[in-house]
Amino acid sequence: MTRPVTRHVPDHVEGAITVRSAAKINLHLGVGARRADGYHALATVFHAVGLYDDLVVTPAEQWKLTLTAAGHVDTDQVPGGDDNIVACAAALLTKRAAGRVRGRSAHVHITKEIPVAGGMAGGSADAAAALVALDRLWGLHTSDDDLLALAGELGSDVPFALVGGTALGTGRGEVVDPVPDEGPWWWVVVPSEDGLSTPDVYAHFDRLRPDAAAEPAYPTELIAALAARDAVRLGAALHNDLQEAACDLRPELGDVIAAGEAAGAVRGILSGSGPTCVFLCTSGDHARDVAATLAADHPVVLVANGPVAGTHLLEYA
Ligand code: C5P
Repeated sequence: MTRPVTRHVPDHVEGAITVRSAAKINLHLGVGARRADGYHALATVFHAVGLYDDLVVTPAEQWKLTLTAAGHVDTDQVPGGDDNIVACAAALLTKRAAGRVRGRSAHVHITKEIPVAGGMAGGSADAAAALVALDRLWGLHTSDDDLLALAGELGSDVPFALVGGTALGTGRGEVVDPVPDEGPWWWVVVPSEDGLSTPDVYAHFDRLRPDAAAEPAYPTELIAALAARDAVRLGAALHNDLQEAACDLRPELGDVIAAGEAAGAVRGILSGSGPTCVFLCTSGDHARDVAATLAADHPVVLVANGPVAGTHLLEYA
């Protein structure tokens, strides 16, 4: 099932267009066995939180990609050139346009707030924003369903970045169905200085869980907790099958989670494949209190609420 993701963006713009995408955390990340294609079957609940990457796309004679970032973002870890997922999104759109675009020409400027290689799908957010912005800049009129399909080709988390809110992800994560969420929920976000490689964490999961079921279980209790607006119940239902593997690779992550819970958070959990840890709190004030305590020992501590919107237009000229 899909829902319109871009109806609020005009079909075609002449000047600069700014598109925003949010970070995600996984409230539930159920991981099944590795499939024949190398990916793992997932039953996950994605949740978009208020940390954002913005893309400004302007007409240009040649392809150019530039980047600025918030102080906590390690730009050295962002792939440059054609390895950047934004360049891949542009190439995919160009290929699909089959002659309707004269080369891949645009200036894309990324302003990053989402931690890099942190388990919050920052690259996926950039890819989703690029699909929407370049589709409009180049006047391609790609349908929402086709944008979602292209997003799925770019990465397992990219369709959710388009849709946002709170959604069940199945398949390898690319099949996205919105779920009712009576939030807002408040989160403290603690990124790590060094990123973790998603394939490495999945490979370690395979070593630790050789008997993983082919299909992970449906997160019934978590979805009920979201609808019940009960933070304690939601905290108890948070679950991440990759946490054991990530903490085994990076034992200090267990200490971060323990520190956040000792600081009063309802519950701490690894975000996606990590290493970012997130802490559920009962209100904005509670989150700021927990963040202040954690900031004594952790250089970067952020506060964000969710759910927030998926990829959307900020402004255009
Ligand atoms: O889809 P994406 O390119 O974001 O995935 C990055 C890597 O994460 C994959 O190459 C794979 O190693 C791992 N992955 C996985 N199963 C998934 C999603 C990702 O094994 N469902």
